[in-house]
Parts: sequence; C-alpha cells; structure tokens
Amino acid sequence: MLSGRRVVLGVTGGIAAYKAVEVCRRLVDAGVHVVPVMTAGAEHFIGRTTLSALASEPVQTSLWTETSPIPHTLLGQQADLILIVPATARLIGAYAAGLSTDLLTNVLLATRAPVVICPAMHTEMWEHPAVQHNLATLRQRGVYVVEPDEGRLAGGDIGRGRLAAPERILAEVERVLGPRDLSGLHVVVSAGGTREPIDAVRVIANRSSGKQGYAIAAEALSRGATVSIVSTVDLPVPCGAVVVRVDTAAQMHTAIAALADDADIIVMAAAVADFRPVAAVDGKIKKEAGVPQIVLEPTPDILAALGANKPAGQTLVGFAAETSDLLANAQSKLHRKQLDLIVANDVSLPGVGFEHDTNAVTLVCADGHVSTVALTDKRAIARAVLDSVCRIRTGNDSAG
Ligand code: CTP
Repeated sequence: MLSGRRVVLGVTGGIAAYKAVEVCRRLVDAGVHVVPVMTAGAEHFIGRTTLSALASEPVQTSLWTETSPIPHTLLGQQADLILIVPATARLIGAYAAGLSTDLLTNVLLATRAPVVICPAMHTEMWEHPAVQHNLATLRQRGVYVVEPDEGRLAGGDIGRGRLAAPERILAEVERVLGPRDLSGLHVVVSAGGTREPIDAVRVIANRSSGKQGYAIAAEALSRGATVSIVSTVDLPVPCGAVVVRVDTAAQMHTAIAALADDADIIVMAAAVADFRPVAAVDGKIKKEAGVPQIVLEPTPDILAALGANKPAGQTLVGFAAETSDLLANAQSKLHRKQLDLIVANDVSLPGVGFEHDTNAVTLVCADGHVSTVALTDKRAIARAVLDSVCRIRTGNDSAG
C-alpha cells in the first residue's frame, strides 16, 4: 500500500531523533520514497550522513540551496504525506502559529498533503497547557497526532512523552495514506449550535462546540472529499475546507439549501434550535419592564426538509443527542426525517457529546445495521461515521 508513495520525513531536535532513523529505514523497506528534512536542532542529535544513507535522497536542511531556489514549495507540493519524527514543542508551536522559520516549517505551510506529527518531549513539556493548546489547534486543522507513549524518558525518569513505537507510527502512515474513498465527492457538514436572538444582546443558544462537525470535515478531507462546513463557531478551519459562517437556524437553512443539490453527502452535526423567539426585540430588554414574556415558534427542521427532497444518490446523516431511550429515539428520528444514517449519543454520560473532545455513539442505518463506538476522540468517531457512509453508498452502488 505504501509502495511508490512520497513521504517528507521531518526530523526535529529532540533526543528521540535517533529513532527517526529506524522509522526512515522501515518506510524505505516498505517501498516509500523518503525525502528527509532536518532542522538545525536535529543535527545536534544525529548526523546528516546517517539519514542520507538510509533515505531515498540526501538530507535537506536549508531554504537556501544552490540546486533549487524554492525547495519548500516543491517538497510540499510533491509529497503524499509529511511525517514529523520527533515533533518538539518548538515545532508544534511554530506550526500552530503558522511561523515559517526554517525549511521544515516552510514545507508544512506549503503543502496540502496530510501531516502526521509524532511528539516526543519531557512529561512537564507534554502536559504544558500551551503545548496541549497548540496540539488541539493542529488536530482541529486536520493534522494527525501520534500520541507519545508512557515510559522511560531521556533523563531516566518515567512519564508520558516518549516517542511512539515505530510500529505505531508506520500504522498511522498506512492508515492516512489508505484508500481515498471519498475522492470526487462533495461533503457538506453543519457544525456548532445555532443562536436565536431574543433582543439586541441576548440569544437562545446551546452547548454544542462544533468539534464533532469539524472532525468530520477534517476526516472527509483526508479521504479525498471536497468539503463545505456551515458553521456557527470559529474553530480552526481544516486545510482545504470552505466555511460558510451562520448564526441562526434560518441562516443555516438558507446556507445548506444552497449547497444541498450539489452535495453527495450531508452530515447535520449542528445542534439546531427547535424553537426561536417569534420576533427579536429591537434594542435591549430592560429589567425595569418586569419579567419578559418570550413567545417562541418552531424553527424550520432543516434535516427533515433535506430528507423530504433528497436527490438520488445523496447520503443524508443526522445526529440525535439523547438523554434516555437512545436507540428508540434514534430510530424514530431516522425514519421521520428519512435519513440514511443517524449518529446517536447519550449526552448524559461523562465525556460524551457537547463541549468534550471525546464522544461515544451508536450508528443506526436505514438498512437496519446498528453499531456502537465506545468513548474515543471525535476524529475516531468521524472515521466510524464516514466508514458507515461509505458502506451505505457501496451498498447503494451495487444495488443500483
Ligand atoms: N435538526 C435540524 N433542524 C432543526 C432541528 C434539528 O436540521 N430545526 C437536525 C440536527 O442537526 C440533528 C437532528 O436534526 O442532525 C437532531 O434532531 P433533534 O433536534 O434531536 O430532533 P427532534 O426531532 O427535535 O427531537 P427531540 O425530540 O429530541 O427534540
């Protein structure tokens, strides 16, 4: 599967740089064309000669070469994947901030290829909020992170921060370079919670963070799809996605309706308000006027409207946030809204759904197939959702 693929292997300045040599050797053994790039820091830990000898071409370290005036764009454009082993806190911070300070950070900004980073550092650094914040930003942009292991660190102490084993790194490269099963398809994802105005300063909102929708967008992009996100939140945009920013259910309805005819797959991950104030008050409601009576009316059910007008070949996915009777409620929504798949979660469980980085779901398909995904990160949930979508579409294709 890896044979003939082109991987830029970035090595940064951490003690685990010596393990990048083993990763390089295994990639070359698997038939990968490995293009090695080292930072100045990496050269304190391993020699260029070692990596040049084992990789598919000599190590590059500088933007200023005699042979190519713009090495970073060529390296970035030609790569099937960029792999950073190890990724130091400095590299992670620079990449999250969009800084281009050397050849490797330039390559990272000048690529549309998927990026896999393998952090390795001392536990204190790994757990530092700044490092974790930068990693969260990168994940939301679609970067794959191979989490470090727990074990013996360079100083002899034990803790989390040890570079993942080469097997785990290779498995992630294989997975990311795996089939681009959404290639040529347009995926529309809604994300976040709608905000319905009460007056000039107040809204009816909900606790949706948009993280699950963005994770689905990032996963769809990595599988070759063209992706549009209709969003109420300002999360980092996965590289290559187009975002339409909305606030209310009505705005979301208009934006999705404009995209729906051209969409092969629509995933309604947004938490759309079911009710909104009949009319928003001009200006601010003052408390001297007493307790306001806010009269509500139903919002348009975007998903039900999509289900009722679904073009042939389109796959429609809804979400169901429940606190009881998960399966029965999900099945009822699936049929009522004429969906192909519903992703149901019990948001009363710890770590599940709104605001969390994790989720646990039951996937209920119109063809009767039901599966569960235990508590995991939202990217893994996104993978399972799109695996189900592909299974449904393949079934449809073979049936048609
Ligand atoms: N949804 C929508 N438009 C609405 C409300 C919900 O498109 N006005 C979509 C959500 O994006 C989500 C699914 O419908 O994919 C969730 O439906 P939900 O609001 O739970 O359905 P209800 O039928 O309102 O169910 P409940 O009984 O839980 O209120």
